[in-house]
Amino acid sequence: MDGSVKVPFIDLVELHAPLEEDLMAAVREVIQSGRFILGPKVTELETWVADLTGAKHAVGVSSGTDALLAALMGLDVGPGDTVITTDFSFAATAEVIARLGARPRFVDIEADGFNLDVDQVAVALDDTVKAVVPVHLFGRMADMRRLVDLCGDVPVIEDAAQALGASRDGLKAGSAGTMGCISFFPTKNLGGLGDGGMVTTNDRALEETLRVVRAHGGRTKDRHERLGGNFRLDALHAALLLVKAPHLAQWTEQRRRNARLYQELFEGKTLPVTLPTPDRDDDLSVWNQFVISVPGRDELRRYLASRGVPSLVYYATPFHLEPCFASLGHRVGDFPRAELAAGRVLALPIHPGLRGEQIEYVVKCVAQFYEQEFSGS
Ligand SMILES: Cc1ncc(COP(=O)(O)O)c(C=O)c1O
Repeated sequence: MDGSVKVPFIDLVELHAPLEEDLMAAVREVIQSGRFILGPKVTELETWVADLTGAKHAVGVSSGTDALLAALMGLDVGPGDTVITTDFSFAATAEVIARLGARPRFVDIEADGFNLDVDQVAVALDDTVKAVVPVHLFGRMADMRRLVDLCGDVPVIEDAAQALGASRDGLKAGSAGTMGCISFFPTKNLGGLGDGGMVTTNDRALEETLRVVRAHGGRTKDRHERLGGNFRLDALHAALLLVKAPHLAQWTEQRRRNARLYQELFEGKTLPVTLPTPDRDDDLSVWNQFVISVPGRDELRRYLASRGVPSLVYYATPFHLEPCFASLGHRVGDFPRAELAAGRVLALPIHPGLRGEQIEYVVKCVAQFYEQEFSGS
């Protein structure tokens, strides 16, 4: 394979092609049912997600962002409250806290990974903290055993948007905390054909609250007992996700296989590439992203693009340096690990349809960059 051969970052057209008839049949079924919002398909998907995550309940919502928002609303998070979260994640994680008038309190990431550092949560916890939101970034679970233990009565909301199917220390993403928030954004491991999400919980009372919150805060149309929103999941999205759901285990296995091949190939070379944490039997990522840390990241990215290898930066700016959080008064240096990561991370293609020779080509291009092009540090 040479530079004229493209490696797609993710190819949803290819992924969906063998499922097309079933997807079309699901669309037809929903059209003929005349029921487009919530309904039996949503209930079926909720049951499926509850089974997969080991949570007792699952509530379908309109997106991963709305899952987080509904979860926080379900806990009555609002002005005067503080919510601890990681400094390094997708915008939605922190945005929802501020949208409710609460104050995000960021903590830095671990020294040897991209998830929040539980030791720093220990320092950040005080009486104003209404919830803690760890993110299972890139598909690998945060240290939930230590975190839940540390938090005691303070609810822990897992941002499991990228981690459906992940497990660690005998816990599964989505049932390890008070609530779990899942995204069905199209590029997630179980991606919908549009936006969608789910909140999971083992708590029956919270489940009920979430069902009320997702429908404008009312059990009936005539009475609204609390503030809610339109966070409902469409029947069409649930029906399409149910077609894809039985394939998730196999797609996850293919992602894990791809991650192992990257690890093997990179380990066979002497390059200034820091690899992501590898899987262990008791810490299994679902590899939503394969993220390396490298010097000269932007030059490498341009070089890879010139060789037909797409890559993406997740995430270029840690929350404390985002303009939208300027009012929190942070400055450069406050969370040095997140800052370092933001300048060095690069996500390489890892989607299930990737072939071994494509991964070999990606690694070869990275090696060529450092052997032939890179002069900096
Ligand atoms: C970590 C994380 N949290 C939250 C979200 C929000 O999910 P959605 O795009 O479904 O609103 C995403 C994904 O986009 C995410 O990656």
